[in-house]
Amino acid sequence: MLIAMFACSFDWLALKGVYSSSNSEIYVTKRVDLDQPVQQTDLTEANSSAKLSIVGCMATSCHGSNNPQALTWQRAGTIWLQKDPHATAYIRLLTEESLAIVNRLTNASWSSTDSSGFLYALEQKCVSCHANSLSSTSNRILGADCQVCHGPASAWKDQHYSSTWKSQGSRRFDNSEMLNTESIASRAAICASCHIGELNSEHGVREVNHELMAAGHPPMHFDFSTFMNRYPRHWDEPDGSTDNSVPQEFRTWKLGKLALTAERVKLLSDRATDVEQSLTRQRDSLNSDGDNRPWPELTEYSCYSCHHSLQDAKWRRSVGNKGQYEWDAWTTAELELAFPREKQVEFRACLQTLQNELESPLPQPKTVINAAVDFHVLLERELAVAINAPMEDPASMRQALLGLLDRFPKQPTWEAVVPWFIVTRALVSDLKLPVDKKLIANIEKQIGYQSYVGTEIRVDGPKDFDPWIFEEYRSTVLELMNSRQK
Ligand code: HEC
Ligand code: HEC
Ligand code: HEC
Ligand code: HEC
Repeated sequence: MLIAMFACSFDWLALKGVYSSSNSEIYVTKRVDLDQPVQQTDLTEANSSAKLSIVGCMATSCHGSNNPQALTWQRAGTIWLQKDPHATAYIRLLTEESLAIVNRLTNASWSSTDSSGFLYALEQKCVSCHANSLSSTSNRILGADCQVCHGPASAWKDQHYSSTWKSQGSRRFDNSEMLNTESIASRAAICASCHIGELNSEHGVREVNHELMAAGHPPMHFDFSTFMNRYPRHWDEPDGSTDNSVPQEFRTWKLGKLALTAERVKLLSDRATDVEQSLTRQRDSLNSDGDNRPWPELTEYSCYSCHHSLQDAKWRRSVGNKGQYEWDAWTTAELELAFPREKQVEFRACLQTLQNELESPLPQPKTVINAAVDFHVLLERELAVAINAPMEDPASMRQALLGLLDRFPKQPTWEAVVPWFIVTRALVSDLKLPVDKKLIANIEKQIGYQSYVGTEIRVDGPKDFDPWIFEEYRSTVLELMNSRQK
C-alpha cells in the first residue's frame, strides 16, 4: 500500500529532485523507473516491516513541504531530496564507475547495471552505506534516507508529533530510539558509522577496506567539521545562523576529532577481534569457512607508506627512512591538540603502545585489541570532559594556533598536511583573523579536499599537490597574529 502510494505520488518528486540537482550530470547514466522495484527476488525483506518507508516522512504536511515560506522542519525532506548527497547515494551505485568497481571486486564481468548479479553484489557489499539497508529493497533508490541518521521511525513516529516532544529537550533522545543528532559527539558517531565504517551494526558490515579501495572506491578521509560545513542543512541552528558555517569551529573540530578517532579505534579492534576469533577456530580445527579477513588490513596504514603516486619531491625522499608502515596518519594527525596539555603525556603513551604493535612486522591481534580498548577508553573519557567544558577561551586558542604555525608537519604528505590545515583554519575562523578568502580558496582547490565526488583523488591527494603552497598561508596568519598583538 505504502509502496503503491509512493509509486504514483512521489515518482515525479524523486525524479525531479534527483535529476535536476546541480550535480545531475555525474549521477545519471540511466533512467531509474520507480515503478519497477530495483530488486524483487532472492533478497530478504525480513526487516522491512520494522522500519517506516521514507514516504511517511515526506508527506506535504510533515517534512515534504514545497512552500519556500514554510518552516525549515516542514521543508526538511524537500531540502534533503533536492540537495542532500545521501539522497543520490544509491543512484551513484547504478553507474558505469560502480559497475567497474563491482566487477573488479567480485571478479565478475556484468555488462550492465540491470544485471541481477550486479544488483545482488550491491546488496552484499554496498547498500549498508549507500542506502537504508533496513527498509524494503524497493526503497533502495532513495539512498541513505532519514532513518540512517535519525534512527528507526517506527519506534518514535507517534510520539514525535506530540506537542510535548520538543519541550523535552535532549531528553527526547533518551526516551525514544531516535538517534541523538543534536549532541555533536553523538552526531559525529552517526556520520562515522558510514564515513569511517563499522563491522557490527544492525545495518550489517559497513566497511570500505583495501580490497574495495583497490577496486576503485575512494578513500575515506572524513573530517567532521569540514563535512558538516559541506552538508546542506535541513534544520535551524540554535544560534539562528542561516549560512552553512559551523559555529565554534575549533570546539566542533575537537569533539569531532575525539569522537571519530574513538570510532576509528573501535573499527580496528573489531577487525582484530574477527581475526582472533577465526584463529581460535583454526586452532580448534573447527570449520573456518575461508572467510578470514586480511590481517593486518592495509587501510589501517597510511596510503603513502606503500603508494608513491606523487611526483618526486625533495621532502619525499627523506620520508622513506622510517622503514615501516605508519598507522593511519590521517586519524592521528593533530589529535594531540584535542587533549589539554596536562593529559598529552598519557595520550602519547597510549597511542604509542598501539602504534608500536601495529607497526611491528607481525602485529598480534590480541595485543592490538588490548591497546585499542585502552585507547578507546581514554578517548571516550576525554570526549565526556570536552562536551561539558565551557567555551574555548581566545587565549588558549591563540596559543594552539601559534603552536601549529610553528610545527608544520615535517613529513608534509597529503595525509598529514590536510589535517593540519583543517584545524588551523578552524582556529583562524574562531579568532576572526581576516585571511584573504582567495588565498584559502586557492589552497582548498589545490589540496582537492572540497569534495572527492567526481575527482581523481584515490590515494594521497592530487598528483600535482605541493605542500609548499602552505608557506604563504602560514606567514600570512603569523603576520595577522603579530599585528594583532601590537
Ligand atoms: C546524513 C544524516 C541525516 C539525514 C540523512 C537526515 N537528517 Fe535530518 N538532521 C540531521 C542533523 C545532523 C540534524 C540537526 C539536528 C539538531 O541540531 O538537532 C537534523 C535535523 C533534522 C530536523 C530538525 C529537528 C529539530 O529538532 O530541529 C528535521 C525535522 C529533520 N532532520 C528531518 C529529516 C528528514 C525528514 C530526513 C529525510 C528526508 C532527514 N532529516 C535526513 C541529519 C540527517
Ligand atoms: C548510511 C551511511 C551514511 C551516514 C550515516 C552518513 N553518510 Fe554522508 N555519505 C554517505 C555516502 C554513501 C556518501 C556518498 C554519496 C555519493 O557520492 O553519492 C556520502 C556523502 C556525504 C557528503 C558528500 C561528500 C563529498 O565529498 O562532498 C557529505 C558532505 C556527507 N556525506 C556528510 C555526512 C555527515 C555530516 C553525516 C552525519 C551527520 C553523514 N554524512 C552520515 C553515507 C553516509
Ligand atoms: C602495506 C602496503 C599498502 C598500504 C598501506 C596501502 N596499499 Fe594500496 N595497494 C598495495 C598493493 C600491494 C597493491 C596492489 C595489489 C592489490 O591490488 O591489492 C595496492 C593497490 C591499490 C590500488 C589499486 C590501484 C593500483 O595502484 O594498483 C589502490 C587504488 C590502492 N591500493 C589504494 C590505497 C589506499 C587509498 C590506501 C590507504 C588507505 C592504500 N592503498 C594503502 C599496498 C598498500
Ligand atoms: C562503509 C560504507 C561504504 C560502503 C560499504 C561502500 N561505500 Fe561507496 N562511499 C561511501 C562514502 C562515505 C562515500 C563518499 C566518500 C567521500 O566523499 O568522502 C562513498 C563514495 C562512493 C562513490 C563515489 C566516488 C566518486 O568519486 O564520486 C562510489 C562510485 C561508490 N562509493 C561506490 C561504492 C560501491 C560500488 C560499493 C560496494 C561495492 C560501495 N561504494 C560501498 C561509503 C561506502
